[in-house]
Amino acid sequence: SAAELIHMFKGIPFTTRSSPELLKSLDTFDAREDDVLLVSYPKSGTHWLAGVITKLYNTQVTLTSPIEFGDISKLEELNNLSSKRIIPTHLDYHMLPPNFKNKKCKMIYISRNPKDTAVSMYHYYRENPNLPTVDTWTAFFDLFLKGDVVCGSWFDHFLSWEEHENDKNILFLFYEDMKKDLPKIVNEISLFLGLTVSDNDIQDICKKSSFSEMKSDTEKENSDPSHTVCALTSNRKLIFRKGTVGDWKNHFTPKQNRRFEEIFNEKMKLSKM
Ligand code: A3P
Repeated sequence: SAAELIHMFKGIPFTTRSSPELLKSLDTFDAREDDVLLVSYPKSGTHWLAGVITKLYNTQVTLTSPIEFGDISKLEELNNLSSKRIIPTHLDYHMLPPNFKNKKCKMIYISRNPKDTAVSMYHYYRENPNLPTVDTWTAFFDLFLKGDVVCGSWFDHFLSWEEHENDKNILFLFYEDMKKDLPKIVNEISLFLGLTVSDNDIQDICKKSSFSEMKSDTEKENSDPSHTVCALTSNRKLIFRKGTVGDWKNHFTPKQNRRFEEIFNEKMKLSKM
């Protein structure tokens, strides 16, 4: 039941894969100046971005599991890593360990049209045994708008990060821009991370990061199938579903679309989006 899979922490629903002890102890987490955070609301393209970033480095880097995933032993596990750490997280800005902020660690926030995010998350709920059962798209649509889903409200998450859009250590990216012109975004990411990457390398990285390549890597288990950058599953096969822009049009009724836009306009009235 939902009660067995979900618990609330600071008003936000987490799965039991994030232990309350770990969440409580995150405040004391020791960040390193060269940590790179990969931040997202679930289903925004986290794996895609992680694939790109890890390919950009020639030096040894470790893509960790999400910082909020696991139990209290997590902090020690991350402390023991000797290489540079790329750390994914779905935490909102307020819940991020303060040490990352004090040390001005580089952070990349990826977001996606919330309508497509909602549809992607609906399918994820349907396939993922770690998440509560949802019977219909209509039921999920209501939960999403209420923020009654894992990681809470999309709007609150986005707004908490958008407030920091002018921080020099944070780069904001959109899934749709990556779909439109991936080489341009990869170049932007490499500049932000201070890496020198040739045009050839960028072309190569883009090829290897296409939806079909990444999906087939997972099927061939070229990548560790139990290594996800999402705190909600350890099954990579659940990640690569469709990988397109605008799938919401196949799910939203005209009435749902109007209701979504009303709530979007209300919640986002102070946003520049
Ligand atoms: P869909 O469910 O719409 O297909 P996350 O990694 O944050 O969990 O996001 C998963 C979403 O990103 C899924 O969306 C998935 O298909 C999409 N995705 C993953 N890899 C991708 C890629 N290489 N190119 C485009 N979309 C990708």
